[in-house]
Amino acid sequence: MYFHFKLQAITLISLCLISLSNCVRILGIFPVPGTSHMMAGSTLMRILAENGNDVTMVSALSLANLPKNLKNIVLTPQKEQEMKVDFYSFDLHPYLQTIVYNMLGPDLLEMVLSHPKFQDLLNSGEKYDVIILEQFYSEGLRYLGKHLQAPLILYSAMDSCSWTNPAVGNPAPPSFVPELSVSGPREMTFFGRLENSFLFLLNELVRNFMVLPTHNRIIKKYFPQAPDISEYYHNVSLVLLNAVSGVNDPVPKVPSMIDIGGFHIKPPKPLPEDLQAILDGAKHGVVYFSMGSNIKSKDMPKETLAAIMKVFSGLKETVLWKWEDEDLFGKSDNIVIRKWLPQNDLLAHKNIKLFITHGGIFSTMEAVYNGVPCLTLPIFGDQALNAKRATTYGYAKWIKFADITEETLKENVRELLDNPKYSENAKYRSRIMRDKPQSASQLVTFWVEYVARHKGAQHLRVASLNLYWYQYLLLDVIIFIMLCTIVFLVSLKYSTRYILNACTKRSSKLKTH
Ligand SMILES: *[C@@H]1O[C@H](CO)[C@@H](O)[C@H](O)[C@H]1NC(C)=O
Repeated sequence: MYFHFKLQAITLISLCLISLSNCVRILGIFPVPGTSHMMAGSTLMRILAENGNDVTMVSALSLANLPKNLKNIVLTPQKEQEMKVDFYSFDLHPYLQTIVYNMLGPDLLEMVLSHPKFQDLLNSGEKYDVIILEQFYSEGLRYLGKHLQAPLILYSAMDSCSWTNPAVGNPAPPSFVPELSVSGPREMTFFGRLENSFLFLLNELVRNFMVLPTHNRIIKKYFPQAPDISEYYHNVSLVLLNAVSGVNDPVPKVPSMIDIGGFHIKPPKPLPEDLQAILDGAKHGVVYFSMGSNIKSKDMPKETLAAIMKVFSGLKETVLWKWEDEDLFGKSDNIVIRKWLPQNDLLAHKNIKLFITHGGIFSTMEAVYNGVPCLTLPIFGDQALNAKRATTYGYAKWIKFADITEETLKENVRELLDNPKYSENAKYRSRIMRDKPQSASQLVTFWVEYVARHKGAQHLRVASLNLYWYQYLLLDVIIFIMLCTIVFLVSLKYSTRYILNACTKRSSKLKTH
């Protein structure tokens, strides 16, 4: 009995020790006040907390139902900082978007750094093993790695791009890697490469002459002792990318870039009874329509709404519509509205035939995961990019939201419902997405703990980070080879002339004699 007790005590103590030694203290910084950003950040932080780590998450909106090892520091907006954007009238040239979006950065930085709760956190003397920072115009906040003396991990909702490539020295030659930041994948014909090179250059200029200097100035304002941003900009141990094969394109990635796309998708739960009954009973299948968490269906322009209503009313399929108001005046019987819908559980139902979406990356991934074809109605940000890529992969069609008319909408909806190739392609993409050695949440946990275990995992850094840009582009080598060639050619010219001269002299000498 005593022995048994002792054994139990030993197991208990060793279990505690194991969990203690595994427990990583993580600080997550997700300051963007947007629902999809919050959803992604909190899901990541929950995954890490569920695996026994000690997590603190700084965010702009508050989280509910927290496990006790997940602490939430909410940076409630000081002034009127909430983003109130009229998404439907968002109409900006894609090239300008790159510049305009970058203007969000300084405000975000100020919001975080000036907030009393964030100041308290910095002054608390609390130590962390790793910091996870959402890369969304937040470059200056990379200074926190130095300030808190903890390795920095970036999370990006986009695939590798100009936001994250320079941080870890990831190569992205514009000859074959499309710039993601705007519009869509480009075919690498001559003009495709020309446009892509132009965008590559634009991003480099904006980053070096706009983003870095402004962020540097703000950081120096709050931390006068901070070094220049160029010293910590590349001090990034790991980049977690919301990308996954099946949805994203294959592009080069250095070993410190990890694809964790699909981490937000959980195995489907049973649907609420009423929804289950609607879906089971839909003889002709169901079209599911949602504009995502930021853009509200109820705010759309009247003419577009009228066109959509007309097309939906004429369908034999049932339409399930995420409509954020009590009522939808004049809707026909095949239209069912709900203020909120459990999207991923819904998409898993076999009767869902088509997903009409704004094309946000999380929605696109859920569609692919469940093998559902899409009609994408992109409005802003990366939505057009996701839409065009989905069309290239043959499981979607797209219409710019502003271009919706009754005719275009009807034609596209019917084509997607009646031509089986879209559904086949969606299922094919789904098989690719699901075929991987580890789940996305296992990957997240492994890699974050890995960085903590290896104190920043410096061994993953690629050597290009130690080079100047002209060294990286081999300009010095090219100039050296050109100089050598010139020296060689010039000396060849003079030596031939000399030898020729010598020869003619000798022959003339011979003649005179
Ligand atoms: C880089 O990050 C490490 C933590 O991994 C930190 O100790 C160091 O001070 C940082 N250096 C700079 C220049 O930011």
